[in-house]
Parts: sequence; structure tokens; C-alpha cells
Amino acid sequence: MPERALTEALLLIAAAPDQATMMQVVTEQVRAIIGAHQSVTSLTVSDDWAQAITATSLSDKYAAWRTYDELPDGSGIYNVVCKTNRAMRMTQRQLERHRAWRGFGASGERHPPMRGWLAVPLVAADGRNLGLIQLSDKYEGDFTAKDESTLAQLARLASIAIEKAAAEAALQAALRTARHQEQQLHRLAQQLVTAREDERKRLGFDLHDNVCQELIGIAIMVSAVRQRLRDDEAGRFSELARVGEYLNALVEHLRQLAGDLRPMQLRDLGLEAGLRSLAEGLSATGSKIGIVAPRSVPRLGDATEVAVYRVAQEALLNAVRHAGASAITLTLSVVDDRVCLEVRDDGCGFDNENQSLWGVGIASMRERALALGGEFEVSTTPGAGTVVRLFCPVHPQSG
Ligand SMILES: Nc1ncnc2c1ncn2[C@@H]1O[C@H](COP(=O)(O)OP(=O)(O)O)[C@@H](O)[C@H]1O
Ligand SMILES: [Mg+2]
Repeated sequence: MPERALTEALLLIAAAPDQATMMQVVTEQVRAIIGAHQSVTSLTVSDDWAQAITATSLSDKYAAWRTYDELPDGSGIYNVVCKTNRAMRMTQRQLERHRAWRGFGASGERHPPMRGWLAVPLVAADGRNLGLIQLSDKYEGDFTAKDESTLAQLARLASIAIEKAAAEAALQAALRTARHQEQQLHRLAQQLVTAREDERKRLGFDLHDNVCQELIGIAIMVSAVRQRLRDDEAGRFSELARVGEYLNALVEHLRQLAGDLRPMQLRDLGLEAGLRSLAEGLSATGSKIGIVAPRSVPRLGDATEVAVYRVAQEALLNAVRHAGASAITLTLSVVDDRVCLEVRDDGCGFDNENQSLWGVGIASMRERALALGGEFEVSTTPGAGTVVRLFCPVHPQSG
């Protein structure tokens, strides 16, 4: 075989963008290089002819058969090549006399006539059969031993390309599956967070709007009864006063509990004002807290808003309690569908590598970020301040 024809075939086979194109290129190249009117390449999927993929190339002599699309069923003589993984080369006479020759089976009428046959197996690196390449009707005379070795050489190249394409396809499929599973996991984690926030919100509302209101009603009733008591019932008077105080303390306690379940400031003021009010509350400790936030923050979804609020609360509290900072700045930004929260202080910093220092606060900030598919980082150097950052995807559908 001329060196150039082989190199060209090799380049064309390697450049094929997908398996179907590659099969077609192989089929056309072998027919051109050997010089025959018919060529067929078949790939079997693990010995299964029902799933075989075939490519055909016919010269103009057989133009009338180009629409022939009958698929091989594995019962023909070609299967001997696949079973034995050995080439077969025959004249038309030899072919028709062969034990395994059964004509063209059910599709006999429509199959193009043949004139001589040369078939070589496609073999995987581990010896498994992948299919075969068949040629018929050589332009001049019968197929020779040289044709057979040329075709065998091309079949080896094609086999390597086929295996490489299959490995690539399997890799892509595995990647797609992994990506799909990751997305599903992500969705589930989000649903979990959203469900938890919904439940906390409902509980918070119930506590605040129902239980607290009922208790306030009872406190008012107690105070009314107290006012109707005469002086001679002074003992019971002070007893009822204590009941009233107790009720008021209980209401305050429940209010706080409701606030913990879902920050009331978030519900009443929204995220931006909620954060400002948080900072204001902490400023009472003497720390100077600056806030940089867009004038109107879009709704980010309950789960994200609560996470941002809670992380801000913990980070600000840490800065106030541990940093001894002269300035603390909270920056909130929303870009595309990601929200970024940054709490920066110019205080003492700490050794972030020393995990024994980490407490519940840092762990819970990290967990909130991860549960929402976000990221959390603390950058700090002893003596040089601390920056806490939270990046979170926005889920406005749950807002
Ligand atoms: N902004 C900060 N400046 C200095 N040290 C900090 C800061 N934030 C956290 N730390 C250090 O990290 C430790 C762990 O913080 P955290 O997990 O929130 O737990 P806790 O606040 O309950 O101690 C703190 O005890 C403190 O030593
Ligand atoms: Mg803390």
C-alpha cells in the first residue's frame, strides 16, 4: 500500500468528530485504497448484532443499491470472521460453496449482488472482537494476499480509533451522570434548607402571632381582675401582680424564641434594613460598624436571606467580642445570581490554621454556606485583622 494513502487515511480517521463519521471514513478509505466496488464496516455492541452499527460505501456501479439499509442479523458468513477473529478471502465460487454461506437471508431480493469477498475482523487491544470490515467486487480480478494484509493493517488502525472513541464516549457519559447526580444532590440539599426554613418560619409566626397574643390577652385579664380587688384582699393583689410579671416575662421569652426561629428583623424590615439594625444593636457595645450595601437589595429567597443574616450576625459578634477592632465594615453585594457578604475588621486577627481555635460560630457559618451550595472563607493573620466572606447562590423562588 502506498505510504501516502495510508497516512492520509490515518489522518482522516483520526480527524473524524464522531463514531458514525469515523466509520464512514474507514469504509470509504478501505474501498478506495484496495480498489473495490463495495465495502461495509460493522461494529457490534458486545456481540449483539441487533445493535450493530454499519457504514456502507458503494461505487456508481451499485448506485441503485445505495438505499439498501437492511441490517446484518449475525447469521451470515461474516459472523465466522467475528467469532474466530480471523480474516477470510474468497472468490465468488469459493464463497458460494462455503458451509457457512447462506446467501443474503431474508433480505435476499434487495441485497446488491456480490463478486468475491474479503473480510477482516476489528479487534480490541484485549483481543475482543469489535466487528469487521468487508469488501466485495474488486475493480480488477480477485482479492489477493497483499489486499488482505493491507486491509488487516487498516483494520488495526480503525480498531484503535474505535476503541479510543468508545472510551471517550464512556468517559463523557460517566461525566454527564456524575454532573447530573451532583445537580440532584444540590437540589435536594436546597430543598432541605428551604423546607427547614419554611418550618421555622411557620413556627416563628405561630409563636409570635398566636401564642404571644393569647398570653398578652391573659396578662390584660389578670391586670383587670387585680384592679377590681378591694384593699382587704391585698395578699391576693400582690400574688396577681406576680402572675402578671411572670406572664410578661414569658411573652418576652417567647418573642425571643420566635425571633431566633426566624429573625423578626428580616421579616419586618427585609435584609438590608435587618443588617443595619443588627449593626446598630452591636454599636451599643462601643464598636464602630460601617455598612456598605445597595440601596435596594432584591429578594434573595428565605433560605439565603436567613443564611446571610445569621452569618453577618456571627461574624459581627466575633469582631466585636474577639478582635478589639477600631473599625468593622460589613459589605453586601448582589451580582447576577450570587450574593456576597463580607465582614472585615482591623483587629487582632487569629491563627486560622489552628483548628482547635474554631468554635461553633465558625462551624455554623461554614455549614450554612455549604447547605446552600455556597462558599465560605475566613482570611486572617494574627495582628492584621480578619475578613469573613460568604458567597451564596440566590434562590428567589423560595422568597
Ligand atoms: N474577627 C475575629 N478576630 C479575632 N479573633 C477571632 C475573630 N473571629 C473569630 N476569632 C477567633 O476564633 C475563635 C472561634 O470563633 P467562633 O467559632 O465564632 O467561636 P466563639 O466565638 O464562640 O469563640 C474565637 O474564639 C476567636 O479566638
Ligand atoms: Mg463566635
